[in-house]
Amino acid sequence: MINTKSEEEINLMSYAGKVCYDLLEYMEDKVKSGVTTKELNDIADEFIRSKGCTPSSLGYEGYPGSICTSINDEVVHGIPGPRKLKNGDIISLDVVVCYKGYHADSARTYKVGEVSKEIEDLMKYTKEALYKGISVIKEGIRLNEVCEAIESVAIEHGYGVPRELGGHGIGSSLHEDPFVANYSNSDSELILKSGMTIAIEPMFSLKGRKVWLLDDDWTISTQDGSPVAHYEHTVVVTKDGYKILTGE
Ligand code: MF3
Ligand code: CO
Repeated sequence: MINTKSEEEINLMSYAGKVCYDLLEYMEDKVKSGVTTKELNDIADEFIRSKGCTPSSLGYEGYPGSICTSINDEVVHGIPGPRKLKNGDIISLDVVVCYKGYHADSARTYKVGEVSKEIEDLMKYTKEALYKGISVIKEGIRLNEVCEAIESVAIEHGYGVPRELGGHGIGSSLHEDPFVANYSNSDSELILKSGMTIAIEPMFSLKGRKVWLLDDDWTISTQDGSPVAHYEHTVVVTKDGYKILTGE
């Protein structure tokens, strides 16, 4: 059973979502050559708390950061630390904000200085896949229609789609059912209902889709070293469509 949220719960998630959006906007000019991922973490932590919220990732199953900072071939869950960004890097900031017990989750990939056309495109089309996946959402569709819409963009451009990672339900817990794969699959026959809240999050690799866990026990990176882009929004399903809770 996938739970649906009351209007009051959705209002709390909307506030958390607005803080995610404002934070990712605020970080746009903080991401630059020479800054460390720990500095970005601390800026984000202070921003989240100044809005009366808390960073959900801090302490989540022992995770040590207030946000996730994943550079280049790191797919997700990069741990903030002393590594400095340099020109040509890309970095995904994945933020989960909690307000009065309710979470919202959003991510974006930023470029540091100038990046190659191929990386620009990877970012552009991963973001396009996020919006394409979201665009099909409404009460009564099969979840797999979202998965298919996301995957179609990866197929068109020849990008790798890691199988192990994807979106998820979200609400009073950061990760709830259902799992939202970024590729078409037979386990996603769930019919969406108004009031369900889900995080949609395509992660595309320039080449291979195989990933592994690094020795820090958190960071997941591509095995072939391919760079990865990652975009995420938390949305609520409505009778005739959806509302993005982590948007403007
Ligand atoms: N947004 C991340 C996800 O959906 C959650 C990060 S919290 C962490 O997986 F503790 F797992 F890093
Ligand atoms: Co997420």
